[in-house]
Amino acid sequence: MSSIVLGVSGGVAAYKAALLLRALTESGHDVRVVPTPSALHFVGAATFEALSGNPVTTDVWADVPEVAHVRIGQTADLVVVAPATADLLARAAAGRADDLLTATLLTAHCPVVFAPAMHTEMWLHPATQDNVATLRRRGAIVLPPAVGRLTGPDSGPGRLPEPADIAALAQLVLDAGPAALAQDLAGRRVLISAGGTREPLDPVRYLGNRSSGLQGLALARVAAARGADVVLVAANVDGPAPFGVRVERVGTAEELRTAMRTGAREADVVVMSAAVADFRPESVAPTKLKKGSAAEPSSIPLVRNPDVLVELVAERSAGQLVVGFAAETGDAEGDVLAHGRAKLARKGCDLLVVNDVSDGRVFGRPDNAAVVLGSDGSATELPPGSKDSVAAGIWSAVVPHLG
Ligand SMILES: Cc1cc2nc3c(=O)[nH]c(=O)nc-3n(C[C@H](O)[C@H](O)[C@H](O)COP(=O)(O)O)c2cc1C
Repeated sequence: MSSIVLGVSGGVAAYKAALLLRALTESGHDVRVVPTPSALHFVGAATFEALSGNPVTTDVWADVPEVAHVRIGQTADLVVVAPATADLLARAAAGRADDLLTATLLTAHCPVVFAPAMHTEMWLHPATQDNVATLRRRGAIVLPPAVGRLTGPDSGPGRLPEPADIAALAQLVLDAGPAALAQDLAGRRVLISAGGTREPLDPVRYLGNRSSGLQGLALARVAAARGADVVLVAANVDGPAPFGVRVERVGTAEELRTAMRTGAREADVVVMSAAVADFRPESVAPTKLKKGSAAEPSSIPLVRNPDVLVELVAERSAGQLVVGFAAETGDAEGDVLAHGRAKLARKGCDLLVVNDVSDGRVFGRPDNAAVVLGSDGSATELPPGSKDSVAAGIWSAVVPHLG
């Protein structure tokens, strides 16, 4: 259990702070909410008190014997400010301490994550951009806002990321430290495939695999949080897309192949984390195959699907980095890493993320571990952890290879 300060400033998205608070407390953390006075125009203190189980004050004159304006920051493991208004970013950048939240920011030794939310004009204004740059230079994490519907009918960059994404990223910072959300993918265009393809047999049935897409979703979420422009080609992946990620949903290997080859033309980094079927049924029955009918098959002939990773490697543009994935099990012919090295050589990609999937590890589980093999002979071991922390480790292994 960690001690988290949830700062809330006065934007319409303050209502989402209640959901974020719920997600953080349900993960077992002790959360102290510190709203600005403006935030309480949007959500009442009672909501934050009831959901956190902790008192809520906005100014430095309450709880004076406890010296709350110093103690709350000093004892926190993480401060998350969501939403962070333009005004709050300006006050934090200027080092003001005119309410309990800004005083807390000045006394916090722990990582600080700001999740800005405001109208596009306010976000893009040079004053706000300078304040963000100042905060980042000092080591704070300022998440890029999502692009989407804003308060009124307009839309653009400035939307608060969804509470579930902020909670996941807060956990990532607690687990892996602030470097996990460095802004080292800013301006990079990243194309990621995730999930597992399904090859139809008839209108009802398909041949599939056990990939849930959770690792690919984590790669997309962390890349977006690190500043990348992310497109996710999602093969049968459940759940909403991470914030800031454009999603193209596909079903079969052929659909995934088309989406990836098209998307790769615009990408600096291509990551093939989807499990693509090697084979598909030779023919797809137009109607359901029924027991005892004349069409009942005694066997299902399969044909090979094209190797999408090999195609992406062959078509890669100058300076583009191609990252493959290998789900391996050890066998009589070699251990997991030996199979990984052989696959890296065979496929010709720049990096290969090798997962050991023996004994039910990896598929559909929230945790993972991997080794990132490089075509330069490098091997980076990523210790067991959440799929978000493995994703952060993969991006940290990718970044030095970017031109
Ligand atoms: C209805 C309404 C919605 C607002 N939404 C935002 C917002 O999303 N982002 C923002 O930066 N400011 C927003 N503001 C302006 C802030 O409330 C204002 O700048 C205030 O001084 C912020 O104070 P704080 O940063 O101390 O919370 C909004 C104001 C109103 C009245």
